[in-house]
Amino acid sequence: MKVVTRNELHEYDLSLLMNDEIQVLRIINFFSDNSCQELLKKLENCNLLGRYKNAPLIKRIGRAFYETINNPKEQSDYFESATLWIKEIRKNCSPLITPIDLLRLVLDEAWIHGVNLATINDKKMFVGLVRKFSTGSYAEAHQDHLEWDTNNSDYDLKNQIACNVFLKLPKYGGEIIIYDQSLSKKDYEKNRIDGSYGINLDSSIKKTAIQLRPRIGELILFSSHKTHALSTVDDGEHVAWSSFVGFSGNDKPLIIWS
Ligand SMILES: [Fe+2]
Repeated sequence: MKVVTRNELHEYDLSLLMNDEIQVLRIINFFSDNSCQELLKKLENCNLLGRYKNAPLIKRIGRAFYETINNPKEQSDYFESATLWIKEIRKNCSPLITPIDLLRLVLDEAWIHGVNLATINDKKMFVGLVRKFSTGSYAEAHQDHLEWDTNNSDYDLKNQIACNVFLKLPKYGGEIIIYDQSLSKKDYEKNRIDGSYGINLDSSIKKTAIQLRPRIGELILFSSHKTHALSTVDDGEHVAWSSFVGFSGNDKPLIIWS
C-alpha cells in the first residue's frame, strides 16, 4: 500500500487517492497545535457532547448517519438536526474555524468540481463528527460504505474516503490500522461479529496491513472501503474530527458527510 505525505492538499494527490492509485494521503500540520488545544477546551463545553449507548468509553459530538440506519426515529432526528448541529458546533468553536469547515474549503479549492454537503432524498446530511476515545476503547475492524446503509442515495459512489483530523493522542495505541482488502457486502456479512458493526479477521481473510500513528493537527485520508480499525487507546485520549468524502468520478463534485 502506498502512503503519500504532503504539507498541502492538492487535486493531483486527491485524484490518485480516489482512484486507488495511492492508499493513504497524510497532510501534516493541517491544523496548528495551538488551535487543537483551543478547540479541545471549547469542545468540553459543547452541549452536543454525548456518549455512545453501546460504547460508553467513546464520547461524541454530532451523530454519524450509520448510527441511525436501524432506527427511523433517530434517522429523522439526524436529518432534522443536521444543519443545526453544524451551526451549533461552528458557533461553539468560534472564532476558530473547525477542522471540518477548513476541510470543506480546502477540498472545494483543490477539486475542480468542488465539494457539496451530501443529501439523501433532498435532505442535507450532517458533517463534522467528533469522537473522543478514552483509555481502553478501540474500533473493531470494519468498512464504511454509504450504499450499504441506504437504498435512497442520490449518488453512484466509486470510492468513499475517511477523513480524520487529530486533536489529541494517547501515549500508546490509538493507531489506525488499514488492511489491504475490501470485502464484498456478502463476505462482510459472513464475517460479521454478532451484534457489532465490526468483522472477525480470524478466518481466511488475508491480513496485510499498515499501521499509522497519527500526529496532532494532521489530516489523514484513506478509503473507508478498505477494512480498517483503531487499536486500543492506552494511557490517554484519542480525539479526532471525522467525515467521509464521496467520489463519483473525476468530472463530478465530491460530497461530504458524517
Ligand atoms: Fe470507519
